[in-house]
Amino acid sequence: MRRWAPRLPAAASLAGACRAPSKTHSTPAESGSCAARRRHTMSGNRAADPRCPRAPARREAEGGTVAATVHARDPLVTEDIGRALAEMEFGSPPAVTRALGAALDREELGYLGAAEIDRLQAAVGGWLRDSYSWTPPVDAIRPVADLVAGFRAILTHFVPEGEPIIVPTPGYMPFLSVPPTIGRPVIEVPMLATDSGWRYDFDGLRRAFARGARLLVLCNPHNPIGKVAVESELAEIERIVDEFDGIVLADEIHAPLVLGDAPHIVYAARSPRAAAHTITATSATKAFNIPGTKCGQLIFTNPQHLARWAEVGHWYEHQTSVLGVVATEAAYRGGRAWLGETVEALRASVSEALAVLEAAEGRTGIRVRRPEATYLLWIDLRETGLLREGVCAARALREASHLVVTDGADCGEAGRGFVRFNAALPREHVREAMERLIRAAEDAG
Ligand SMILES: Cc1ncc(COP(=O)(O)O)c(C=O)c1O
Repeated sequence: MRRWAPRLPAAASLAGACRAPSKTHSTPAESGSCAARRRHTMSGNRAADPRCPRAPARREAEGGTVAATVHARDPLVTEDIGRALAEMEFGSPPAVTRALGAALDREELGYLGAAEIDRLQAAVGGWLRDSYSWTPPVDAIRPVADLVAGFRAILTHFVPEGEPIIVPTPGYMPFLSVPPTIGRPVIEVPMLATDSGWRYDFDGLRRAFARGARLLVLCNPHNPIGKVAVESELAEIERIVDEFDGIVLADEIHAPLVLGDAPHIVYAARSPRAAAHTITATSATKAFNIPGTKCGQLIFTNPQHLARWAEVGHWYEHQTSVLGVVATEAAYRGGRAWLGETVEALRASVSEALAVLEAAEGRTGIRVRRPEATYLLWIDLRETGLLREGVCAARALREASHLVVTDGADCGEAGRGFVRFNAALPREHVREAMERLIRAAEDAG
């Protein structure tokens, strides 16, 4: 296998970025923190697909596995870059860490109670009003530990066993992997990749409803393709859902991470009809980089849905962390400036990745579209030599280049031949990662 000198000697560059976390550290540019790196090595790199087993972790590698042998032979290729999970290497808002520190000092370590739910509803309600001019009734904002738990709860209590759900694909991995584990099959409706961007296949959605599905997962902004839906698309979806008496689960967790000019439009806020057939899922955890604090929200804008949740939701709500409420409240009340800087840093990182990949497209065949939101790049490897029978692309890249990505097939059939790259890294690490990808494609021929 050919080796190359990374632009920055990988071990030195990553170690150099690994400063002791500072209490005053605030800007994303400063925050290639040790905590972030710890997450990177310990949890960020999990492979989601059992068909693509996890590559040796650092601990195993240091214990003398093949990877350790490679490291010993070649000090230039020593560190994984990338994440299979959607978290950022940009730390978290100082307002959050301060609030968590104060909460620990006060020993706020009990179960979630009514007072915390009130605080959460007020903070989330204020954020939605100020950000999107949306004012759902505060009592309709309900806590859950995280959105995957919320998704599972909605499937369990709002979709009869055996009834399929609809997921536009490529989709966020748990939208595809969780439903079958609880007896809800998935109908995948591939998004259409047109010259002017990603489009919904409205006929495909109609056909899926006609096959007996009732719940549509509408992920907007859309992980992993970074699409931001426009009003005319949302209006057509609203018509189709209404025609089939369907329900929309509107996952808007990436809403604050819009990178382009098109604004995020809250689906349920657009009309009483949309509100009546929608359960919205949202959370501060993605944009403010606090997923480990465990606090998401489901917003029930149909009173019957809310009444049903009142019957079944208690134990889901109860799993929400009090510290997650503290973190969410602090993020929403004191994190807006940090978010603005982070979005700028993400634009820079995404642009860096696109520039490097596009410059090499003629040599590599790697293709990528600019995401309108999120920090995820959906990278098309179908014209490269990287795809081999029986080995998923993510694993091949991990082994050849120490590049950690999500395999596109985990995002549905439409994702085969693609990988998802998390570009929420400092720019120089993004460049290094993309250079590894390019070199791997060149090596693969
Ligand atoms: C679209 C989408 N929904 C939900 C989640 C999961 O959120 P949580 O950590 O609250 O389960 C993610 C995480 O990446 C996501 O991208």
